[in-house]
Amino acid sequence: MYILKNKFGQLENGEPVTLFTLKNKNGLTAKIMSYGGILTELWTPDRNGKFINIVLGYKKIESYLKHSPYFGATIGRYANRIAKGRFKLNNKTYRLATNNPPNHLHGGPGGLALQNWQAKPAETSAGPALILSSKSPDGAEGFPGNLTTTVTYTLTHKNELKIEYHAVTDQTTVVNFTHHSYFNLSGKDSVLDHVLQIKSDRITPTDKTLIPTGNYLHVHNTPFDFRKPTPIDARIFDPHIQLKNASGYDHNWVLNNWNGRLQPVGSLHDPESGRTVKVTTTEPGLQIYTGNFLGEIPTEKKGVKFKNYQAVCLETQHFPDSPNKSHFPSTVLKAGEVFKSETVYGFGVR
Ligand code: BGC
Repeated sequence: MYILKNKFGQLENGEPVTLFTLKNKNGLTAKIMSYGGILTELWTPDRNGKFINIVLGYKKIESYLKHSPYFGATIGRYANRIAKGRFKLNNKTYRLATNNPPNHLHGGPGGLALQNWQAKPAETSAGPALILSSKSPDGAEGFPGNLTTTVTYTLTHKNELKIEYHAVTDQTTVVNFTHHSYFNLSGKDSVLDHVLQIKSDRITPTDKTLIPTGNYLHVHNTPFDFRKPTPIDARIFDPHIQLKNASGYDHNWVLNNWNGRLQPVGSLHDPESGRTVKVTTTEPGLQIYTGNFLGEIPTEKKGVKFKNYQAVCLETQHFPDSPNKSHFPSTVLKAGEVFKSETVYGFGVR
């Protein structure tokens, strides 16, 4: 096991960006940079022991700054969408950037995914770890309260990437954190043949702008039924209005039996290589985004773009637009309270 520290590059203002390489005792390797708390590479073996990088990313900081659709990012203060960039808290209306018109997305153009975090490596008995921390001032991106966030990544010797979130505020605010890796377990240019399982009976269906309507849709007899392991392409192109709105899957599944404790909620499997990712979380929701617009994103090869459906995000979270939906699990964090959540991606083969 080891942890290496290297310079990854610098921001436009000259601030250095550091890249940490975490290797566990089985040879799994995670590369995480200070900017955006971004997981840039994650190397895991197939059933023959062959390692490949299973997340999309770039080699250069400039590419992240210019083109990245949140590749591997730590997202906050609020992951996913808030309708029209507006919400009310204690009778006061707060306004946020509508950076995904007409809505707010992923904490805004200056959100935590686009900040350079403080980073401190730690060798723990569970495995090599990286502790990232950020201080977001009152009013940053329109959110109230000075928010201090700590995110700890541990690459455990049990072959898991464990992500622990911790946040405190000095004024009532809303928070929702997620990890935004684009997984591709085969190294090929599509994940449509990957098999997905989600322990969920319901999704939060959305309007055309991907804001939840507030109702729930039972997955029975719909293309959203992944209760049994199902290839992503089994029904992704079915003529279902929800799939049409999003050009594929870009929906929040309501996880069964949520009680705030860590529980297994789903898995992704590549039948050819055998690679499997199991997702465990304390969160109530899972956004599955099948990279529906990756075909618009430049790679680092001149003139070459990524491909639609080249990767899939498995984003554990509270539900989108919760600040405007009082019947959804609350995202309110009060002054003096401690927000904690944990998500574990476990890697194996079968
Ligand atoms: C959202 C997508 C969005 C993507 C990249 C996902 O979390 O659900 O709608 O296109 O992030 O920003």
